[in-house]
Amino acid sequence: MKKKRCHAFVCDVTSEEWQTPFPKASLDVIVCIFVLSSLLPDKLQQVVRNMSDYLRPGGILLFRDYGRYDMAQLRYKKGRCLSDNFYVRGDGTRCYFFTQEEVRNLMTESGLEEVQNLVDRRLQVNRGKQLTMYRVWVQAKYRKPIIIDQPLT
Ligand SMILES: *[C@@H]1O[C@H](CO)[C@@H](O)[C@H](O)[C@H]1NC(C)=O
Repeated sequence: MKKKRCHAFVCDVTSEEWQTPFPKASLDVIVCIFVLSSLLPDKLQQVVRNMSDYLRPGGILLFRDYGRYDMAQLRYKKGRCLSDNFYVRGDGTRCYFFTQEEVRNLMTESGLEEVQNLVDRRLQVNRGKQLTMYRVWVQAKYRKPIIIDQPLT
């Protein structure tokens, strides 16, 4: 029988208990692309720690998300700001804008090692709408260290 290659499930990563179809310390890669910016900033550290627990030694966490002073942040109207650098969109979803240092702290405090951490700045031109957008994203890659057991003496 063919092995199932994909198992989709829903998980509120901010909750204490996760119903995952895999054990801790088993994942090769966790992809967080425009995920963490939607969480309450107070919950971020706990969520990243919990995710780190699910990585196998040597496993990696890939991150890409909104960067501080992205044009979307600068265009929020008064009353949309919930706390520092955290906003609510018209549809009720939330959005946080990260600095490289914040991402570095979140990851290293969770026991992960930095492989990459960069700011991607781009000028996006929409000719149809005659709009020029200065976009800022933070992109990062962190690895769970491989701990080599000391031989017993
Ligand atoms: C997340 O971490 C907290 C504190 O260490 C712990 O109580 C909780 O059970 C963890 N949740 C998961 C899903 O690992």
